[in-house]
Amino acid sequence: MRREWFPIRARLNSSDSTLVYDGRLLHGKTRLITKLRNLATRLRGMGFRPSQDYLWQRVTWPIQERRLGIRTTGVVRLSELGVPTSQHSDYAPISFGCLRRILKRIDIRAGKDVLIDYGSGLGRVVLVAATFPLQRVIGVELSEQLTRGALDNLANSKDRLKCKDVKFIVTDATQYELPDDVTIAFFFNPFRGGVLESVYQRLCDSLDRAPRRLTVVYVHPGEDAERLFKGEGPFVLREEYNDWYNPGSFGTIMIFNS
Ligand SMILES: C[S@@+](CC[C@H](N)C(=O)[O-])C[C@H]1O[C@@H](n2cnc3c(N)ncnc32)[C@H](O)[C@@H]1O
Repeated sequence: MRREWFPIRARLNSSDSTLVYDGRLLHGKTRLITKLRNLATRLRGMGFRPSQDYLWQRVTWPIQERRLGIRTTGVVRLSELGVPTSQHSDYAPISFGCLRRILKRIDIRAGKDVLIDYGSGLGRVVLVAATFPLQRVIGVELSEQLTRGALDNLANSKDRLKCKDVKFIVTDATQYELPDDVTIAFFFNPFRGGVLESVYQRLCDSLDRAPRRLTVVYVHPGEDAERLFKGEGPFVLREEYNDWYNPGSFGTIMIFNS
């Protein structure tokens, strides 16, 4: 996954494997001229629209993070955390703008809806969702280190959240039984293959146990996700669109209802 042009604020401390934030660029060099040259090369390689988005994010993401009191920007490779990556995506957060537009689009029912973010990473989706009046928000994340960062973010943003019932759970999503009151399942390209199939089956099992409206938001669905959710199961595609504020090919968003 080539996302090197993201600003990175999180890295692993090699001595004790804790996650630390240092505000460096992933491949940043200290000299301004080198930075400018790198930036120009990236922008040339990306094309006009993604370049615009990239620059916009560099300016607005720190403001949004400060406003909420969180630090979620960066790329963390799962291989650095000792996780085999064949079916798992690395950590990279969704764009704030794209996320807020999705949350407005899905008509959250105050005090009723329960949202789960599969692959919650440093908690951006969970904590921004919790600024809406949801009943409960759950983040499920494979990496303990990332979840420690998410819990720091929760502690720092607590006073700014409308939803007070926020939980982060460290587990492989395949091992997590979906609570039967979850009404919104959020995926930002967290995994594929057998892992996704197993999670999909857990969504279906939960619907069998407790039939209800379950909205699935899938940001950047790969072939596996499209095949599963558009297949013969309980989900119907409600809308599919492109949000270019999520950079590059990460702009496709599909929303399904059960
Ligand atoms: C693209 S990131 C999305 C982060 C977050 N949802 C956001 O948008 O800010 C994908 C996340 O999925 C997590 N992940 C990958 N495989 C997983 C699994 N089997 N169970 C739980 N989390 C997983 C990764 O560790 C990573 O944090």
